[in-house]
Amino acid sequence: MLSREDNELITETNADMPMGKLIRRYWVPALLSEEIPTPDCPPARVKLLGEELVAFRDSEGRIGLIGEHCAHRGTSLFFGRNEECGLRCVYHGWKFDVEGNVVDTPAEPAESDFRKKLRHTAYPTHEANGVIYAYLGPRELMPLFPDYEWTQVPLENSYVTKCMLECNYLQGLEGECDSSHLSFLHRAFTNERNQPLYKSDTAPFYETEETDFGVRLIATRNTDNQHYVRFSAFVMPVYGCVPAGRPTNEMEGFEIHTYVPADDTHCWRYDIGFRRDRAVRDDEVHRRKQINPDFTKVRHARNNYLQDRAMQKTVNFTGIEDFLNHDACATESMGAIFDRSKEHLGVSDKAVIAVRKFLLTAVKDLQEGREPPHLTRAAEQNWFPHIDCFAHLLPRDMPWRQRFSYLTAKAEKENPDSYRARSKAAS
Ligand code: FES
Ligand SMILES: [Fe+2]
Repeated sequence: MLSREDNELITETNADMPMGKLIRRYWVPALLSEEIPTPDCPPARVKLLGEELVAFRDSEGRIGLIGEHCAHRGTSLFFGRNEECGLRCVYHGWKFDVEGNVVDTPAEPAESDFRKKLRHTAYPTHEANGVIYAYLGPRELMPLFPDYEWTQVPLENSYVTKCMLECNYLQGLEGECDSSHLSFLHRAFTNERNQPLYKSDTAPFYETEETDFGVRLIATRNTDNQHYVRFSAFVMPVYGCVPAGRPTNEMEGFEIHTYVPADDTHCWRYDIGFRRDRAVRDDEVHRRKQINPDFTKVRHARNNYLQDRAMQKTVNFTGIEDFLNHDACATESMGAIFDRSKEHLGVSDKAVIAVRKFLLTAVKDLQEGREPPHLTRAAEQNWFPHIDCFAHLLPRDMPWRQRFSYLTAKAEKENPDSYRARSKAAS
């Protein structure tokens, strides 16, 4: 449970709110590359952290992310002409470059230099593996773009989907930190492939460890002679990293589920996945067919997620198709911004509590002038091999701390170099 005050503190993300200021100190996904695929293509609307923006790719391929409303009299630049290295407003022809400079005001007298005094809102961007990330914080405090593993693998080894979730970002994010819902919300009656473990032990043992990047989350389920350990990670500020699913003892990559606030009652869910050593197969991105071209979900609250009550008796726990919709049903139906002073947390919520605590500490620290965690400023620190997620079956007598010692906070503290230098050889 959170106090009303803390609930507001952690959920309100506009520019003048403390959590908005915190998230703005990090690079976050802003749109997909495919939304502005080629130079001078049509621009795309971007709603991010309560701001209305428009993205465009100029004639030289540079990406602009600028205020949607024209600096002249506010017409939407979404309707603008993307031409000759700038986006031109359809109302009186003012033209903006990717830096937010007003480069032309053709309705003003030729000798006017009025435009030079203006600077339109513009944010830095970074494109990596199909995602355009943005930094909306103060320029002088901009960290390096974090070279996460999923941004560095070859393009064909990764995939991404984007959809709108109709609730506050934290509801989505908390779902990623909550392994116990796998035993219920995502349970299938007919597909036994990855289900027995989740069914046999529905009350996993949770451990959480604060790290330099956020919180590592470990959930252990027991079988007769083995235990099944699932490593997930919360990465500042809105990333939930989870194993790709099956307890196959593969460590070939994982998924990153990102919940970026559009505003306080909507967020963008980006699901990024990657495979370390092979290309992704099309059938691994089944989620695409659940999403409309405008990034709304095919199944949503207004059609009750197309729940099928007969299917709920015989096929799966929810009667709803696809994990994406299970999660949306669970988190959106709490209401747009859930009042956490009304909840009753149990032992199974340990990881959710740890992530909230990390975020609340960071936001309160920032209010008191302390720097947020996990902002990279030195190139030699700009790699993160210790952000790793996988599910592993271990013999009952082998503690995970012995098998995966590099993933312990103790290792991080005592020997940061070897902690960072671990390799896949550990598997
Ligand atoms: S409103 Fe855009 S040029 Fe006038
Ligand atoms: Fe889920």
